[in-house]
Amino acid sequence: MIVLGIETSCDETAAAVVACDGDGPAVIRANLIQSQLSEHAPYGGVVPEIAARAHLAYADSLVRRALAEAEVSPDDLDGVAAATGPGLIGGLIVGSMIAKALAWAAGKPFLAINHLEAHALTARLTDFVPFPYLLLLISGGHTQLLVCAGVGNYRQLGTTLDDAAGEAFDKAAKLIGLGYPGGPAIERAAASGVPGRFPLPRALPRPLKGRNGCDFSFSGLKTALRRAVEQAGALGPASVADLAAEIELAICEALADRTANAIECFRQQHPEGTSLVAAGGVAANTRLRRTLAALAEGAGLRFVAPPAALCTDNGAMIAWAGIERLRLGLTDGLDAPARPRWPLDPHGIGSPRLARDLTAAAR
Ligand code: KG4
Ligand code: ZN
Repeated sequence: MIVLGIETSCDETAAAVVACDGDGPAVIRANLIQSQLSEHAPYGGVVPEIAARAHLAYADSLVRRALAEAEVSPDDLDGVAAATGPGLIGGLIVGSMIAKALAWAAGKPFLAINHLEAHALTARLTDFVPFPYLLLLISGGHTQLLVCAGVGNYRQLGTTLDDAAGEAFDKAAKLIGLGYPGGPAIERAAASGVPGRFPLPRALPRPLKGRNGCDFSFSGLKTALRRAVEQAGALGPASVADLAAEIELAICEALADRTANAIECFRQQHPEGTSLVAAGGVAANTRLRRTLAALAEGAGLRFVAPPAALCTDNGAMIAWAGIERLRLGLTDGLDAPARPRWPLDPHGIGSPRLARDLTAAAR
């Protein structure tokens, strides 16, 4: 089975070809990414209109190059997959229209992929993780704990009450004068810093730590940091490094605390489950991976996090999700819509902030 995957939901244009022989291991035959960082950097975040135009400019040639590198033609494909949500609508339309056109012209099935499901299933591409597993999905727009019981079968145990973990990294980086995206910038700066060394008026909070449940909150951390930075005035490189280390530690501890509660739930509900999986851009963070690995080991679970390049947005995860769905005959019509909002667990409670944003946008 050979599937082309196209990812255009945010600020990375990506195209990949993944091949899989029956139930055997999958091979990533091509995995190309065109980052739009330089286009968005002057604005300190992703500008949706710029993203949509950049996807339009890059996607076509990226798809051609991915097919050439994988040494396949559209006729050799078994399916064409594209992320059709959730994400920025302009980019989603660009990627899904290219995929639909290719699928139609080559007479192949189209696969409308949920970007979050693609993150969720990546550990099965890289490490053959069997269902059910506990997933900590941490990206720029989402922070969720989910039980993954099968393809298309996800149950949310917890979500963020305000910011996503990646958003917390991005906003904190901005507050201490580091660039976008903030996660990698904070990780780099933290490497030469020491948590606890910067004299904070009050330690950064670990929101909801010690409370029941599996929800997250990061806005208190951001507010405490803003106050501390305002009081401190100009920050030299050593202070930035120490603050970055403090922020990284606080976010990791907050994530680990909530994940520990989720492990308890997961083990009660699924004693047969063996793995804790981390996915999404924030799962690229080395300190977090170490923290979660220790947590999983203490609970007798295997910890799996895909290589960093497959944690952040990429085309291989879309192609792989396409293979998983194609195997089950879950193909889509060419009328499949692009969906800015598309929760993995429709019964889960979405982020209240997102709900507020959507209500405000509707007004
Ligand atoms: O999954 P992703 O690439 O895109 C979304 O679907 O959102 O995640 C992007 C997020 C950004 O907020 C970025 O700051 C964060 O992942 N991130 C990291 C690291 N690399 C990316 N956060 C912490 N440490 C990292 N090394
Ligand atoms: Zn993502």
